[in-house]
Parts: sequence; structure tokens; C-alpha cells
Amino acid sequence: MKLTLPRIREMKIEQRPIVMITAYDHPAGRLVDEAGVDIVLVGDSAGTNVLGHSSEVPTTMDEMVLLTRSVTRSCRNPLVVADLPFLSYHVSDEEAMRNAGRLIKEGGADAVKLEGAGAIAGRVRAITAGGIPVMGHLGLTPQTATMLGGMRAQGRGWQQAVHLFDQALELQAAGCFALVLECVPAQVAAAITRRVTMPVIGIGSGAGTDGQVLVLHDLLGINPETKRFVRRYAELGDAVREAVATYAADVRARTFPQQEHTYPIAADELSAFDSALRSRSAGAENTLVDW
Ligand code: KIV
Repeated sequence: MKLTLPRIREMKIEQRPIVMITAYDHPAGRLVDEAGVDIVLVGDSAGTNVLGHSSEVPTTMDEMVLLTRSVTRSCRNPLVVADLPFLSYHVSDEEAMRNAGRLIKEGGADAVKLEGAGAIAGRVRAITAGGIPVMGHLGLTPQTATMLGGMRAQGRGWQQAVHLFDQALELQAAGCFALVLECVPAQVAAAITRRVTMPVIGIGSGAGTDGQVLVLHDLLGINPETKRFVRRYAELGDAVREAVATYAADVRARTFPQQEHTYPIAADELSAFDSALRSRSAGAENTLVDW
């Protein structure tokens, strides 16, 4: 059954941890759905994790729509949230609404996520007024990491931590149904979580938030580098390399494919085929390979 926004709010009240994970394509959407997560994020981190960019910034609206559509075709039960990429919501309320609408209408997402507060809170108001649920994202905001001094933890000084709290209140007042807090000290994230009514989903922000989000490619061990806040639950990178190397060795040794990997042909059909080939190339040496 589809997870609803009221249910997510109830989960905060019941202190039931909310499980969120990224997915960027159809098989991943199906697998994380079958695994029973609550929220699936089609993150603009697809830019680095599957599109080969060095940051989230180059990810485009068209790419996000394509990825979101492929996830929502297989992902039935979790709430699907799609990221608005950099510059898709910064210029005007109208553009923000139009792009959020594309992720819902063309992508099939249930909600959108955007980064920042201040002027961005106005965009949240515009998009929610248009009937689209918005998840906020504060702390380390990868789209504007350069302004933050790089990909580093945020809110480590008390004034910066208070500023984060103010921003969280601002996003809540603007209508965000939930908030991602990325790379914020655990105590700061927990204090903010306790003081807001919207559910807070942490990443690299300790255990005191209402839920956790991780990038699928990080927890599966597909990404070679490990971040401090990631627990790797599998080593699929190693498993894939090993499987493909074994396949390559089998092909080179002609031990794959075997008979069980082939399709049979009846003896009379084969014999007729053999005769046909012989008559078409009379004089040429033609014998059928014995499979
Ligand atoms: O794009 C993404 O994967 C994200 C998560 C890190 C929260 O925004």
C-alpha cells in the first residue's frame, strides 16, 4: 500500500524510524520496494553515481524526469520523492512550479525535494500552493557546496547551528512535509528534530533524527570511496567485478555457453536445413557444426 504523507507524519509522532533510500532506475526501484523501505529518493546524486559527473550540479531536468519515470514504473509502495536539480527552481516561482510539475506529471513522483531556505522558502510556498508536496534539504547541500566551502559538515559552530534551526522553521512554515538534514552534528540534528513537527530524515547527522537516508550505491559497496557516515551492507562492486571476470574467462575458454543455454531444433528440420545449405552452395565445403 502506498505510503501517504499523513502516515509519515504519524511515524514521527509514534517515533517509528522512517527508512529512505535512493534509487535511479527500474530494477533498483523494484528491489528497494520489495525490501520494504518507506521513501525512495530519485536523487540528483544520480549525477555522480550513475551519470559520471563530478558533482550534482550538471544533472538536468530531462535526466531527472527520465530517471524518475524509470523508478516509478517499478516502485509501488514507498513514497517516491524526486530531486529538483540545480537551477531548476532558482530563477522564479513559475519555473520552479513548472519543473516540479514535470517530475510529478511526466516522472510519476509523489513529491519533490529542493535544497536551501531563505529565498527558496518562497519557492516551497509556490510549489505547495500548486498542490505538490515538497521535502526540504538543509546542512550540506551538494548543489551549493562551493558556497559552503566544499563537501563538509555544517552547523558545527553554535551560530551556524542556530541558523540551521531557523532555516528548518522557515521551511516548515513554508509548507515542507519533511526535511533532509545532511552532515550536521548529531546533537544539533537531534535538537532540531525535537523542535519541529515535520519529520526530519538524517544523512551523516546521527541517530536522533526521525529517519535515515543513504545512497543505494554507497550502502551496496558499488562506489569505490567510503564516506564517514556510510555503513556498507554489501560489496557488490567486488561481486560484479568477480562475476564479469569469470564470465570473460568462460567465454575465452569456450566453457560458456553449454548445451543447456541453447535452443533445440528437431532432427528433421536440421537435416532439411543442411540440405538447403548444400544445394545453395554446391561445390563448397559445407558441414553443419554438431552442437
Ligand atoms: O541526491 C541525493 O542523493 C540526496 C541525498 C544525499 C539526501 O539528496
